[in-house]
Amino acid sequence: MARERLLSGIQPTGQMHLGNYLGSVKAWVDNQTRYEPFLMIADLHSLTSTYENPAALRDTKFDLVCDLLALGIDPTQSTLFFQSDVPEHSELHVILSMITPLPWLYRVPSYKSKMDDIQDKDLDTYGFLGYPVLQAADILLYRATRVPVGKDQLPHLELTREIARRFNHFYGNVFPEPLDVLTEFPILPGLDGRKMSKSYGNTLPISDTAEHTQALMMKMFTDPARLRRHDPGHPDVCPVFAYHQIFNKDRVPEIRSGCESAALGCVDCKRECAGKVNDFLAPIRAKRAALTQDRGEIQRMMREGAQKARAVASETLEDVKKAVGL
Ligand code: TRP
Ligand code: SF4
Repeated sequence: MARERLLSGIQPTGQMHLGNYLGSVKAWVDNQTRYEPFLMIADLHSLTSTYENPAALRDTKFDLVCDLLALGIDPTQSTLFFQSDVPEHSELHVILSMITPLPWLYRVPSYKSKMDDIQDKDLDTYGFLGYPVLQAADILLYRATRVPVGKDQLPHLELTREIARRFNHFYGNVFPEPLDVLTEFPILPGLDGRKMSKSYGNTLPISDTAEHTQALMMKMFTDPARLRRHDPGHPDVCPVFAYHQIFNKDRVPEIRSGCESAALGCVDCKRECAGKVNDFLAPIRAKRAALTQDRGEIQRMMREGAQKARAVASETLEDVKKAVGL
């Protein structure tokens, strides 16, 4: 049976952290053989918010490829490419923009919330409003039927379906309506117990040294009610315990009882936890370090990915142009 085609995108903004890995990249890696995956580094999308800093974008793009390969993306299974290497994304974006009503864009929740949250950048641009139209173009260009998304991206996927429906209504059946792939991974809290996010400054970067990871983890928030060493703890409200549940599964029962009886202190608990996280990251870091040595090889691989992506994208774009009368 033919595998369903999956498209996903990730923006190259800053260092990849453990939360990114568990929240999205792990699903890509685990789904590589089940679907026919197209994995896109959304460099055009990052221009919507980082257009003032081209040098940083160049480096983060390269770093992100190294992260993804080190984390298990296999370019023989997944078509990995830079969005801007496939000009069909921009072309389809323009065509879709012709039929996308402005009110649909103003009501996308991420538009309003980002405009309110991000004060240090001027996001009052045409490109930023059109962000979800570009995302629709990414997905529809490959006629992907599956898109792995976190909750925050669901409105973008819904908008993609609405744009596909409107297009098909005007011009005939060109696009399938994509469905989400729900990712069921546990949410990894950040160092302060909130969601791990670069904008909160509470992340554990994949490419850090083991020493730095350890130092960050020793400063993690714990159960706020456990003020003194002999106070009993409540592991279910402690972010450190959430890490044990993912990276130290075998020892979870002992950690729980040790914490609740106050036999185990937070310092020891964190030290053990940091050790487990570093054990998990050690082979990934070694692979990543090797990859960063060979920029030429990475460039060659990304050119190959773009070629494979263009073969599919150009076919769709031909159908689209014919349909709209170009
Ligand atoms: N908007 C997505 C994010 O910030 C990235 C993205 C761009 C994407 N194009 C996509 C995700 C297409 C899925 C499909 O996470
Ligand atoms: Fe959290 Fe561990 Fe301290 Fe319990 S012992 S509160 S699980 S850090």
